[in-house]
Amino acid sequence: MCGIVGYVGHRDAADVVVEGLRRLEYRGYDSAGIALVHDGHVVARKRAGKLANLDKALADDPLPPAGTGIGHTRWATHGPPTDRNAHPHLGAGGRVAVVHNGIIENFARLRADLERDGHELRSDTDTEVAAHLLEAAVEAGSDLTEAMQQVCRRLEGAFTLVAIDGADPDRVVAARRNSPLVVGVGEGESFLASDVAAFIEHTRDAIELGQDQVVTISRDGVEVTDVDGRPAEAGSYRPYHVDWDLSAAEKGGFDWFMRKEIHEQPAAITASMLGRHDAQGALQLDELRISEEELREVDKIILVGCGTANYASMVAKYAIEHWTRIPCEVELAHEFRYRDPILTRATLVVAISQSGETADTLMAIRHARQQRAKVLAICNTNGSTIPRESDAVIYTHAGPEIGVASTKGFMTQLVACYLLGLYLAQVRGTKYGDEIAQIVGELEQMPAYVQRLLDASEQVHRLAEELSTARSVLFLGRHTGFPIALEGALKLKELAYIHAEGFAAGELKHGPIALVEDRLPVFCVVPPPGRDQLHDKMVSGIQEVRARGARTIVLAEDGDEEVAPYADDLIRLPRVPTLLQPMVAVVPLQLFACELATRMGHDVDQPRNLAKSVTVE
Ligand code: M6R
Repeated sequence: MCGIVGYVGHRDAADVVVEGLRRLEYRGYDSAGIALVHDGHVVARKRAGKLANLDKALADDPLPPAGTGIGHTRWATHGPPTDRNAHPHLGAGGRVAVVHNGIIENFARLRADLERDGHELRSDTDTEVAAHLLEAAVEAGSDLTEAMQQVCRRLEGAFTLVAIDGADPDRVVAARRNSPLVVGVGEGESFLASDVAAFIEHTRDAIELGQDQVVTISRDGVEVTDVDGRPAEAGSYRPYHVDWDLSAAEKGGFDWFMRKEIHEQPAAITASMLGRHDAQGALQLDELRISEEELREVDKIILVGCGTANYASMVAKYAIEHWTRIPCEVELAHEFRYRDPILTRATLVVAISQSGETADTLMAIRHARQQRAKVLAICNTNGSTIPRESDAVIYTHAGPEIGVASTKGFMTQLVACYLLGLYLAQVRGTKYGDEIAQIVGELEQMPAYVQRLLDASEQVHRLAEELSTARSVLFLGRHTGFPIALEGALKLKELAYIHAEGFAAGELKHGPIALVEDRLPVFCVVPPPGRDQLHDKMVSGIQEVRARGARTIVLAEDGDEEVAPYADDLIRLPRVPTLLQPMVAVVPLQLFACELATRMGHDVDQPRNLAKSVTVE
């Protein structure tokens, strides 16, 4: 969703801000703008549409040199994506400029108050009220930091606000409540952004801010207060060093970030395993801040997440229940708190989120903690809100995921879930050490298996070429193949904008089989033979859809000959245990969605209507 950049320092602020916005494009947006402080005034440009439109506006009417500026990419909430509604928004006299992410819930009342006082608001946005209120405060004699503190005390909702004052070229001031914001600390310069990608080429020293904090950046450094103006307490914000560099945020020769990220999965799995077991295969999750005693007391696990993270949760349930015998529930984060879930001190809530900023998941963990449940986050983004507000965290170490469609994020969420399950089994003694070591050994093989599938991408690409006019695609799976069917369908919906649905294969004859018609492509994820009768039942399901004319695209492990006669296309998977099969089965489905969308001429990294981090509920 919205991307925010703020800068003060010795460089040309317009360059830093526009380049920062370019690195945040992946978050999803529909307009963009910039404001600078120059010669005692604010100067601003903004345009609906992609950054190219803003680039053109800046080329036609260049901004003057400045060392202080803010910028924004907007994902519309209040008012359509027009030039008028694009950020920055200015106060009544044009002295203060503001950019904003989130929703100011009491904006209608504040707007009515402002209009009653004679303010003329020029946009449909909730943001503009903040600009008018801030400007009124500085006009009344407060400095911009004090003004931000006063205004934040009046705002309700979730927001990140970043502001500049034309009369004060030496500072940029920001505040955050339930919305992302990080600070970058350089030599004689400071940065603000929705995430570190915006300033990673200038500095890797960052600060994660706490809730309801106001931050003032200048050439000399950073000051953090609460909204009442008190200096923030030590520990309420956290300096950290970003462990990846600019090259990780670039395409590295691939046409799309998504394709690059699919290909980074072997390395991402390795990074997620690194240091988390000893030479004997015993798990060591040192970073987990929940004691072994507390873990032994857990009597229920609830896994919460949205979209792809929800499908990782579904896979986790199969593995964790099997290895630990602890009952697991899987819950969409946005449904969780509204159904009044039963939570006790012995409940472990596992929140899965690549970005660590998904508002629905954040609200779910807050509810869980209010009810005294323990919360463990599985997250890919250091410095983000969800791990900060959790009791414990397992970072996935996939590196930045920029394509909107999650790929290596999902893959490493699976790794983290497996490690968690095995660690619980170790702590609670539900698996012997040698059994755990064996599974860890199999996880260690995964990078090679995934690489083998990537090396065979050509087969999937040919399939995408043949199916490039398909209007509907189904995905079937059983057991851990069911969430993979759902994930395959989600990838296709997101990227190719076609009807795609995933089903548990056993559910077919209870309704979905009516969808099957001549030449309908149906992907079938076949469990390894030998797991009860799952395999044979899946083969029956494949026969049933084929008998009705479907084109079956079957993903089955090496050596599974039984299924071959019923496969119009057969994609071979490396032989792995059933519980780990999602890690290999998902790869051809990711490649297929990426390639099909490419052939359809879609923007794979920034699909329409979608945002990378969904920071509003
Ligand atoms: O950052 P999160 O993992 O919390 O995001 C959750 C979903 O929004 C995300 O997985 C979404 O479904 C992806 N675009 C799927 O590819």
